[in-house]
Formats: sequence, structure tokens, C-alpha cells
Amino acid sequence: MSPVKRSWAEPFKIKMVELLKMTTPAQREKAIKEAGYNTFLLKSEDVYIDLLTDSGTSAMSDRQWAGMMRGDEAYAGSQNFYTLEKAMNKYYGFNYLIPTHQGRGAENLLSQIMIKKGDIVPGNMYFTTTRLHQELAGGTFADIIIDEAHDSQNLYPFKGDIDLDKLKALIKKHGAKKIPYVCVAVTVNMAGGQPVSMGNLKALRKLTRQHGIKVMLDMTRIAENAYFIQQHEKGYSNKSIAAIVKEICSYTDGGTYSGKKDALVNIGGFLVLNDKHLFEEASNLVVVYEGLHTYGGLAGRDMEAMAIGIQESVQDEHIKARIGQVLYLGDKIQEAGIPIVLPVGGHGIFLDAKRFLPHLKQTQFPAQALAAELYADSGVRTMERGIVSAGRNKKTGNHYFPKLELVRLTIPRRVYTQAHMDVIAESVQHVYDNRKKIKGLKMIYEPRYLRFFQARFQKL
Ligand code: F0G
Repeated sequence: MSPVKRSWAEPFKIKMVELLKMTTPAQREKAIKEAGYNTFLLKSEDVYIDLLTDSGTSAMSDRQWAGMMRGDEAYAGSQNFYTLEKAMNKYYGFNYLIPTHQGRGAENLLSQIMIKKGDIVPGNMYFTTTRLHQELAGGTFADIIIDEAHDSQNLYPFKGDIDLDKLKALIKKHGAKKIPYVCVAVTVNMAGGQPVSMGNLKALRKLTRQHGIKVMLDMTRIAENAYFIQQHEKGYSNKSIAAIVKEICSYTDGGTYSGKKDALVNIGGFLVLNDKHLFEEASNLVVVYEGLHTYGGLAGRDMEAMAIGIQESVQDEHIKARIGQVLYLGDKIQEAGIPIVLPVGGHGIFLDAKRFLPHLKQTQFPAQALAAELYADSGVRTMERGIVSAGRNKKTGNHYFPKLELVRLTIPRRVYTQAHMDVIAESVQHVYDNRKKIKGLKMIYEPRYLRFFQARFQKL
């Protein structure tokens, strides 16, 4: 007899619920048409299951809400700052903390204090806001992720890894002085939430040390990355998520953090650094953009909730259930033979729109059309991550044609149930069964910056 299968389940129970509006197909057809077939332009009240993002959409715990009541709203030296500093130091181990209103606030500070005009900033695939801040500071982003990351069907378990040969080639070409730091995202959002291995981080530390180059983390989903290391990297199966998270940080010099993901808060972020001089520069600059260095654009209560969220985020049972839910949905969709990015990453399922809708050309915006269709089918809101998100080449004015043309089904933490996952999988299946009827789109309004947020479309 085979042993009984033991399932994961959430290590919490539900104390309060938020009621949702149920809509009819006719209402959804109208809503998505009025939104110019852009899911960013839908009203949230017209959405049933919101998979637009996992950013700021998590459910806080009763402990976090209790922490909100302990907000010390002093302009300077709030108690909550010191609580956050202590939690950061305990779980991430960096010397210095500068709070910011969210991740991109920290990206702005880091870019401004470290990047000079003409610098090259290598990273494991771009992220929209990260790259923009690097460019605004005068730097040029260089993608040094391994080639496997660009192939949606490659099953390598650490597709977020850095290709050290690509980094060596950059150092050879430009010289180490032109490279202020390597930016390492854990996990890699645009590749499908793919993790970086510890072995890769160690090797990167060794190489960069030889050349005097710093390593800065994008720590946004670090606990999720740690889970993949624990599950798939040799030597880590008996280590706790907390220990793995701390080890990741130990191979770096600092990082930026969006508390809106791992740390289970609706707003907040920070910059962390080990170097005293850099810290002094950043704490001087933060007062210009965010607020005093002991609140950085956050209320005291937000810092308290984030400190508690950090502690909750590195609990093994929490992360097992969080990623367990993502994998559950991924398995269901994959078993139905629907093309998705493999292996399934930490924060969502990414549908491969090129293979889902092979009858559409990339200039007919297949991922955009698919996201609109999913909403019309079931009220599930997803996000395009393809040609619309990639934007245009500033010099030629032509579209970038990214290899990955994806629809992201991002799972908020502690918000939806397994039954919701079933409803989502059924909707994807239904749309897939009727995929041949799906028409492409024409862009009728195109904003100049980050066009995916506000572009409008018409059905062809
Ligand atoms: N880095 C990564 C990898 C991110 O995914 C995000 C945000 C940021 C930095 C910026 O942080 O939003 O707090 O300013 N990602 C969100 C998303 C917006 O939907 O993937 P932020």
C-alpha cells in the first residue's frame, strides 16, 4: 500500500472577509470594452478574483493589525523605526536601514548614490522600475541572466541565475570601474518568478570581490527564493527558510526591498546597506524624496506592520503554503495541457500567449487580448507581460519584441482559497478550449512612459 498523501494547508484561519461583487458576462464585456481592453483600467469593484499583482494585495495577520495600533507617529525617532531596524537586522543581517515609501523609492536612492553617468549596471533580467531608475541616474542596464531564462519550456530549476561569463565579458569590455554594482533580483519577476541558486550567489560574490564590484540585491521576494533553494538545491533541505534568507544576504553588500510582497504589507519598503559611507549618502538623500531617515515616507504604524510581516514571511509553514497554492494552480493548468512558463515560479502562473494563441502575430498583442478574454470569461483580472510591457526602442521608435509574451496570474498572499484556484483554472481551460475565436487587438492610445499601465485597445 502506498503511503497516504499528506497535503499542505494554510497555517492560519480566516477572521474577517471582504465581500465581492458578482458580475454577469454582459457586464464584464461592457466593462472590459470601456477599459480599452486593458485590465489596469478596470475598476476593482468589477473584478471577482484579482490576480493583477501580488504587490500590496496580501492579507495582514491579526498581529500586524494589532501592530498598526502601536504606531508611534513621531516625526523623528519613532519607536517603530527601531523595531523595523531590529527585525531587518535579525532576518537579513545588514548594518543600516533606510525606510522608503515602497521599493522604487529605495531604487531611486540606490541608483543616485551609486551610479555615475556612463556606468553599466548588470542584472539578472530587467524589472521595469529598477531599470528606469538606473537609466535616470545615467547608467545603462545590461542583462546577464542565463540564456535558459528566456526559454519558457526550459526546466532548469534556477533560471534566475547570473551567467558569470556574461559578467566577465562586461568587466573585460568596460572595466570594473564602470560597474558600480551587480543588481541581483531574488526571485526574477519578469522571467516568471524564477529563483537564483545559492551556488550562483557564492560564485558571484567571489568574482565581484576579485574586481572590487559590489552586489546589491533586489530582495523583493527573497523568502520565496529561499523556498526553492530549500526544495531543490543540494545541502539545503534541512535548513530553515530564515537561515537560507540570511545566508543569501550574507553574500551581498545591501539591497532594495518592496515590503508589499514578501513582507505582507499594503505599503512600505526600504534600502539596506553595509557600508557606512554609502549609508550616510543615502540618509542624506532620503530627506529630499521620501522623508526623515527614521520614517522615509511611511507612517510609524506601517513600519510596525512591516517588521511583523518580515518575521511572518520567513516561517517555513507560511512559505510552504504560499508557494504550495501557486504550484497547485500551476499543476491544474499544466495538466490541462495549457502552455505556461516552466518550472512554475514563486508568485504566479505565467501563460505563454504565443503558444496559447498561435494564430495571432505579436503585433496583434496576444497576451493583452488573452488577459482581456479571461476577464470577460470569469471576472479574473490578470496582467500582460509581453510586447506592450516591453515598450519601444527609444532610438528607432520600433516595438521591442520580447521572446516571452506572457499573461501573469499573480497570486496575492493569504487572500484566496483553493476553491478560487479551481475557478481560475476552469476559466483558463474554458478560454483555452475556445482560443481559436479570440481576436487580436489594435492599440488606439499609447502613452509615452510605461505604456502598459494606460494604453487603450480595440478588437480587430
Ligand atoms: N522589484 C521587483 C522585482 C518588483 O516586482 C517590484 C514591484 C519592484 C521592484 C518595485 O517595488 O512596487 O514597491 O515600488 N513589482 C510589482 C509587480 C509592481 O506587480 O510585480 P514597488
